[in-house]
Amino acid sequence: MKHTMFFLSLLGLAAQPALAGDPVAGKARFVVCAGCHGPDGLGNAALGYPQLAGKDAAYIAEQLRAFKSGRRQSATMQAMVSGLDEMDIDNVAAYVATLK
Ligand code: HEC
Repeated sequence: MKHTMFFLSLLGLAAQPALAGDPVAGKARFVVCAGCHGPDGLGNAALGYPQLAGKDAAYIAEQLRAFKSGRRQSATMQAMVSGLDEMDIDNVAAYVATLK
């Protein structure tokens, strides 16, 4: 099953090289994020950590780029994305999009 999903994501990359991140690679990046947003991406409203599950990859990637550039201001999230390159952002966004 894992192999099938990886193969499908490769097909997706071949079809849309500029858009599709790799959720398998993104899952490893999400370990850190899970500390605040939760392993299922449900967040913690009481602590001010928004839910990520159910949001699509394009929205997530856009927010991460906005935090990185400072267009969207959050010292916490800016620190979180400072170590992510463009591909990491697409990959972690693709993984988040698998969380329902
Ligand atoms: C230390 C806690 C913490 C960690 C770790 C963390 N975040 Fe966040 N995240 C936040 C907070 C707080 C906000 C709300 C920022 C704001 O809007 O002021 C946020 C907001 C976001 C948003 C915007 C959500 C929306 O609905 O617009 C995204 C996307 C996001 N985080 C993704 C991630 C990803 C991906 C990672 C891992 C690379 C991560 N976060 C790690 C605390 C954290």
